Amino acid sequence: MRKPFVAGNWKMFKTVAEARHLVSELVPGLQPILEVEKAICPPYTTLLAVAALLEGTDIGLGAQNMYWKESGAYTGEIAPGMLAELCNFVILGHSERRAYFGESDETVNRKVHAALAHDLTPIICVGETLAENETGRTAEVVSRQLREGLAGLSDGEELLEESASSLVIAYEPIWAIGTGKAATIEGANAVVADIIRPVVADLFSESFAQAVRVLYGGSVKANNAAEFFNQPDIDGALVGGASLNATEFTRIVQAAAP
Ligand code: PGA
Repeated sequence: MRKPFVAGNWKMFKTVAEARHLVSELVPGLQPILEVEKAICPPYTTLLAVAALLEGTDIGLGAQNMYWKESGAYTGEIAPGMLAELCNFVILGHSERRAYFGESDETVNRKVHAALAHDLTPIICVGETLAENETGRTAEVVSRQLREGLAGLSDGEELLEESASSLVIAYEPIWAIGTGKAATIEGANAVVADIIRPVVADLFSESFAQAVRVLYGGSVKANNAAEFFNQPDIDGALVGGASLNATEFTRIVQAAAP
C-alpha cells in the first residue's frame, strides 16, 4: 500500500509575512488528515519562518530547487546541506526550471544524487510538452527523463535503505501546468502505469516500482482532485496554483484520503 502524498508547490509566490499567514491557515485543516502525507514547498526566503511554524506538525517542508555542490563560489545557488537543516523534500527537474533555467536530465541527475546523500527526498518531475504529446512521443520523453534523471542510483548506496519512500516521482504533462487544462484522468494514469512504473522496474526492481509513489501534477483543483486520486496508479498530486489557497489545498488533501 502506497500512502497518498500531496505536495504544494508555491512557485515564486509569497513574502515571509504572506507565507506565515497562509501556513497559519493551513495547519489546523491539514493536521487532522492523518492518512495523507502532506508537504509544502514555499520559496527559499520563507523556509526558515515556515519551518518554525510547522515544527511539531506532521506537515513536511520542501524546497523548489537546489544546486548539487556542497559549497563554493556559486553565486545565487543553494546547497543541499543548507536545505537539509530545514527541509525534508526538494522538487527537482520541474518543467519551469527545465524550460526557463537550463535544467537538463544531467543536472537533475546530479541533484538527485546530492539530495539523497543529504537525506532529502527528491520529488522528481517528468513530463512531455504539448507538441511531444501530439506527435506520440510521450513514452520516449518520459522514459528518457527517468532513465537519465535516475542514472547511477540502482547500484549506489544513495538509494536510502533501498526504500521506495526515499524518492517521489511527479508526472506533470507540461501542457497541463498552470493552464487550467488538466490531462485526461485515464491518460495520466496510463502514463504512470504503462511508462513510469515499468521504467522504474527496469532501473530498480518490480517491487520498488510498485512501492514508489507517483504523483500527478498540472491544474489539480479541489473539484477534479478526487478523480485523479481514484486512479489506481496515481498516489497523490503536486499542486501549484491551488496550493496558494488554504481552503482549496485542504480540500485537495482531504480528497486524497482513502
Ligand atoms: P498547477 O502547477 O497546479 O498550477 O498547474 C503544477 C506544478 O507546476 O507543479
